[in-house]
Amino acid sequence: AMVMVDPEGRIEIVNEQTERLFGYTRAELLGSKIELLLPKRLSKTHVAHRSKFFADPQTRPMGFGLSLFGRRKDGVEFPVDISLSPVETAKGSYAVAAIRDITERRRSEDTLRKVDERFRDLVESSPDGMVIINAAGVIQQVNGQAEMLFGYGRGELLGKAIEMLLPERFRAVHVGHRSRYLARPQPRPMGAGLELFGRRKDGSEFPVDISLTPLQSPEGGLGVAHVRDVTARKRSERELLLAHLVRAQEEERLRIASDIHDDTIQAITAAGLRLQLLRRQLTDEKQLETLKKLEDTVQLAIQRLRNLMFDLRPPALERDGLAAAVRTYLDQLQVDSGIVGKLESKLSEEPPLETRAILFRIIQESLTNVRKHSKANTVKVRLETAEGGYGGSVEDDGVGFEVDQVQPRAGHLGLAAMRERAEMARGRLELTSIVGSGTKLRFWVPRDAGLMPEAALTR
Ligand SMILES: Nc1ncnc2c1ncn2[C@@H]1O[C@H](COP(=O)(O)OP(=O)(O)OP(=O)(O)O)[C@@H](O)[C@H]1O
Ligand SMILES: [Mg+2]
Repeated sequence: AMVMVDPEGRIEIVNEQTERLFGYTRAELLGSKIELLLPKRLSKTHVAHRSKFFADPQTRPMGFGLSLFGRRKDGVEFPVDISLSPVETAKGSYAVAAIRDITERRRSEDTLRKVDERFRDLVESSPDGMVIINAAGVIQQVNGQAEMLFGYGRGELLGKAIEMLLPERFRAVHVGHRSRYLARPQPRPMGAGLELFGRRKDGSEFPVDISLTPLQSPEGGLGVAHVRDVTARKRSERELLLAHLVRAQEEERLRIASDIHDDTIQAITAAGLRLQLLRRQLTDEKQLETLKKLEDTVQLAIQRLRNLMFDLRPPALERDGLAAAVRTYLDQLQVDSGIVGKLESKLSEEPPLETRAILFRIIQESLTNVRKHSKANTVKVRLETAEGGYGGSVEDDGVGFEVDQVQPRAGHLGLAAMRERAEMARGRLELTSIVGSGTKLRFWVPRDAGLMPEAALTR
């Protein structure tokens, strides 16, 4: 719509669109004040603006940065866009206003803004880290969660290649994966069956689960990666596995020990008795000598089986108590390895059997390490009643090692299993070692430790 007004604001000329837009006839408009076409609340200020325009007339948009409104004859207001130009004629100065109804534009802008806001809310409130990249793998948007996960500020991420969030060793191959995905995007988990890792700003890595969703935008196809830190889940999976392992080991040991006792040792003892019967029938010196060797072998076999049984579940533990079982074990250690074992027991009572077995296993595992790794001269075991349970330590004067460097790995589960045992019993372990001067394990388990009920393992 085009409207021409004089310096007093009187309408001189209108076009057809003006009639249609505002609902007035040409006759009604001509000669009226331009303020007729404005919402009433704005007319006063408009009069002032109008005089200012005529004082220094220049072509310009009107009400720059403001929302402008027109008012129809029926009183309905609508958003408009107006540009003004001065026109000089023989009769004097005029202003021409080009008025455009922008209802439609406003509406779609509004919708867009709302969608945008909702989208942003959705992204921000997601419990997952979200990283949005474009087809070239450049980070377009991240949420607060992603900033926290990776330890970068938003400003450090936007505009960078996504690969900065990956461990270096995966970066090169990721570029290929990523461009293949973005060429034909569809929602899916990432790296199915693989262990994925993120890399923090400080260089540390953490296990992640990632799912990908494609997203269309006016600027082209985007990829949204939902990133979840699964450190805790991975850890509890590992712990649960270890708990099962320890329990299975305990049960297996008990089973083997009782098989040896009830079955194997009985059978060999019976063989020994038969040999004694045989002795009565033999007179030949040579044969008797052979028999003697056989009898010795049988005795040795029984002795070895008893030792094995002791390792599996020392009978002394049940019969004579914890201190006595540890004493016997230390004596055996000294015979086998030359390491002198000292025991200092301040137990004021004998722990319940289950607890006793747990304590013994911890000490045994620890003494096995002393024998295998420490090259120590002496090892000292201490036992005491403490804090509603039993505590103590195993201390050697051997080579020591870097405790932090030892990770549980295949075939080296001793320490991890020992820790697991203590935790299952709701107790604690503390291992300190100084390279060159020895290793000390301190432990404590509550009185009613026992093994975890089966139910707790099948959570
Ligand atoms: N008393 C010790 N003195 C020196 N090094 C030790 C001592 N105890 C443990 N270590 C070191 O810690 C590592 C881990 O011990 P851990 O008991 O977990 O495994 P392992 O003894 O090697 O194997 P496993 O116990 O499963 O037979 C050992 O390999 C050894 O290097
Ligand atoms: Mg070990």
